[in-house]
Amino acid sequence: MNEEKSNPVIVVTGAGQGIGKAISLYFAERGYDVAALDKNLENALATAKEAEELGTKALALECDVTNRDQVKDVYKKIDDEFGKIDVQVNNAGIFIRERIEDFTDKNCDALIDVNLKGVLNTSREAIKIMKRNENGGSIINAHSILGQFPDFGLGIYGATKAGVRLLTRVLAAECAPYGIRVNGYAPSVTDTPMVHHIIEERPDAKLDQIPMREFGTPEQIAKLCWFFASDLSEYTTGVNVPCDGGTWDVQRPFMAWNEVKKEREESK
Ligand SMILES: NC(=O)c1ccc[n+]([C@@H]2O[C@H](COP(=O)([O-])OP(=O)(O)OC[C@H]3O[C@@H](n4cnc5c(N)ncnc54)[C@H](O)[C@@H]3O)[C@@H](O)[C@H]2O)c1
Repeated sequence: MNEEKSNPVIVVTGAGQGIGKAISLYFAERGYDVAALDKNLENALATAKEAEELGTKALALECDVTNRDQVKDVYKKIDDEFGKIDVQVNNAGIFIRERIEDFTDKNCDALIDVNLKGVLNTSREAIKIMKRNENGGSIINAHSILGQFPDFGLGIYGATKAGVRLLTRVLAAECAPYGIRVNGYAPSVTDTPMVHHIIEERPDAKLDQIPMREFGTPEQIAKLCWFFASDLSEYTTGVNVPCDGGTWDVQRPFMAWNEVKKEREESK
């Protein structure tokens, strides 16, 4: 393969919908070849098809990030097809809300297996390929605001994301000698199939927590990933950047909106 002429390659887990799909298409539009991995092959195929329509090469692969053997096979196929990986996005995740006293073993294992061990499984295979790159690369992990500011019923989910935060820092140190930087994005409420029900059920209560008073979009996360993947962030590694409109930075962000609304009414 002629390295100089080939497109950069991005691998995205959970690429079949939501944030993973948006990242895949954002990078495809800007000249990356895409490996779209998802447990749901049909959705991965749809993402790959849209990426190809943007003029790039795309590969859809069924990949359950909890299945070590399948993950190994998938990365072998990616290596055979593209010969390299420049950007690895560990995005696949699941969300389960349950009080700790009610948690079933099945749900607890599922959260840990997908959200935490999944990141390990795909990172391990990606690093083997990425460390051959002359110019390093970028690993990007999906965190969550809940890994830092936990919430009722989201103790186990939050613990998995806090774990990803710690793994990101350690991976950043371990991968630095290969020129691979490792960072993460932390959304709050980003409108995807994962959390759409929350937006529908209690929009005002959630908006009251967000200083910018808007829900996030998957494209906003994709833009942050573009920053992590590019040399704009060449001296940034081991960090977790919120992409959340300032969520929970202060206790009552809605007070600012109330004050401004009052001022505007008074000045009419
Ligand atoms: N949407 C938000 O508000 C939000 C907030 C904080 C963090 N996050 C994190 O961002 C990431 C993406 O979330 P999203 O909102 O796009 O979710 P989503 O549910 O819309 O999409 C997740 C994708 O991951 C895939 N997936 C699930 N389990 C998998 C497995 N075992 N192996 C491979 N693929 C699997 C699903 O099939 C799906 O395509 C997740 O890690 C999530 O925890 C999202």
